[in-house]
Amino acid sequence: MGMLRDIPHPDTFESSQRVSKLVIDLGFANAIESQKLRILGLAGLFHDIGKTRTPLKILMKDGPLSDEEWVDIKKHPRDGFDMFKGFKDSPLHILYETARVLVAHHEWKSEGYYPRSSDIPVETERRTHDADAVLSSQMLAAADMFDALCYPRVYKKAFPYETVELILRKDYKGNPLYVTQLLGRFNKSSQQRTKQLNLEAITE
Ligand SMILES: [Fe+2]
Ligand SMILES: [Fe+2]
Repeated sequence: MGMLRDIPHPDTFESSQRVSKLVIDLGFANAIESQKLRILGLAGLFHDIGKTRTPLKILMKDGPLSDEEWVDIKKHPRDGFDMFKGFKDSPLHILYETARVLVAHHEWKSEGYYPRSSDIPVETERRTHDADAVLSSQMLAAADMFDALCYPRVYKKAFPYETVELILRKDYKGNPLYVTQLLGRFNKSSQQRTKQLNLEAITE
């Protein structure tokens, strides 16, 4: 958590906590076993940790990003992986497993093929060789997209339910069941969240 607070960017810190809870709930709903649930929760918490290496002026920009700025943003999944890969042969091996999930958290969007290495051009295929990591990264991607759509960002407002559903159904390329499960959650919690964050009214 301390590392997350190193991101001087409240959107990232707060959304990481929400995504962690969302993705654990998704894991429960899909009968994921306990060790994988732990990894899922950690991956939710740390999925954007690579943004500690992204210039703050890019994270805080409230207008469209330039092509060069997108190149920097798109490094964060790989940077996150690089930060945790050293735990592979350590007692904290779980952080290495976490890295293998978080590295793919933008790969399940229609245009989300992020580079696997900062010096390799944008890839055009998802990582599909590890069934466990694929399942977990699909859930993580769904939770991350859902959170990004339901909450305001520096460059956008929170979207109403209909827009969230439309975008998720169009842009999310993982298991559509996860979208259905997340949308069910939106209905239950939107009123409370609207109050908490003083957002515009969200249509139920
Ligand atoms: Fe991300
Ligand atoms: Fe995120």
